[in-house]
Amino acid sequence: MNRIFSGMQPTGNLHLGNYLGALRNWVKLQHEFETIFCIVDLHAITLPQDPAELRRATREVAAAYIAAGIDPAKSLIFNQSTVHMHAELAWILGCFAPLGWLNRMTQFKEKAGKDRENASLGLYAYPVLMAADILGYKATHVPVGEDQKQHLELARDIAGAFNRRYEMEYFPLPEPQIFGAATRVMSLRDGTKKMSKSDASDMSRINLTDDADAIANKIKKAKTDPHPLPDSEDGLAGRPEADNLLGIYAALSDMTMHNAIAENAGKQFSAFKRDLVDRAVAVLAPITQRMRELTSDPTEIDGILARGAEKADAMSAPLLAEVKRIVGFLRP
Ligand code: TYM
Repeated sequence: MNRIFSGMQPTGNLHLGNYLGALRNWVKLQHEFETIFCIVDLHAITLPQDPAELRRATREVAAAYIAAGIDPAKSLIFNQSTVHMHAELAWILGCFAPLGWLNRMTQFKEKAGKDRENASLGLYAYPVLMAADILGYKATHVPVGEDQKQHLELARDIAGAFNRRYEMEYFPLPEPQIFGAATRVMSLRDGTKKMSKSDASDMSRINLTDDADAIANKIKKAKTDPHPLPDSEDGLAGRPEADNLLGIYAALSDMTMHNAIAENAGKQFSAFKRDLVDRAVAVLAPITQRMRELTSDPTEIDGILARGAEKADAMSAPLLAEVKRIVGFLRP
């Protein structure tokens, strides 16, 4: 059986990049795979979090999953800290991850910034915890945005190192699934920077909680260049903002980049942006509305998370026990 594991951090607002790069694909994949979608609160605390805000954001991410179309009857939904395998397996796998591998991780370098001495061990070990998330369920496929590719390669390397040490094909090597026209959604203010929760400017991203007016305003003010839209992919060279907005248009319309370019060739940005607003609002408004309903009374969400945690624990506990036996831990 092919099994999917993926997750999102409950930090700040979910945005269009999270939706188009990951969540939207998850919804489709539920029908072909056994699926596990986690809210990775252990990962969230690798940077400082306010406790009340972390609780709120955890429920909000669960609400976003469900509002976007993840069906709790089909997919496991739970928050990572409620299932003890994650942290325990991360410790064991950390003993198979040489510093040389971890030192190559670009996300750590970005997040730690210049002040690396003050970055936490947790931030450094972030990708090892990710490997535990995936391998702890023997997941075979991992749908993510482009920015997580390097972390998935590390998870494969760690799985390989474990398998080699004990001379068995224990962990399957998980395959990244990075697809669609928006695997890397860029900032609306700067087409060379990733759309991100941590960008200081709220105008740089469309949040899943934004209403129609906010979406229209952000798209209207999005950075562009003075030329009409091109008629071929080659015409996007050196035009990161045009490239980004067309990619968003394509993904929202469920079409290829090629078709999105053909449909909009020669248009001025002003006209194109009006169409883009219409598509964005048509796709996002129902999700935002459902998220509001779900977060207004957390009883339903809390129940889904509790049931998900129970199942995820039952699923992962035998694997953890087996890994401990393989490693040689005595269990009298
Ligand atoms: P997070 O919360 O940073 O991102 C969640 C998902 O959103 C994707 N994403 C984007 N896709 C396209 N354009 C963007 N601008 C953009 N920004 C974010 C990310 O690629 C991701 O798929 N470390 C993971 C969470 C995680 C995880 C895992 C994922 C923890 N354990 C195990 C897979 C498997 C992360 O990036 O979260």
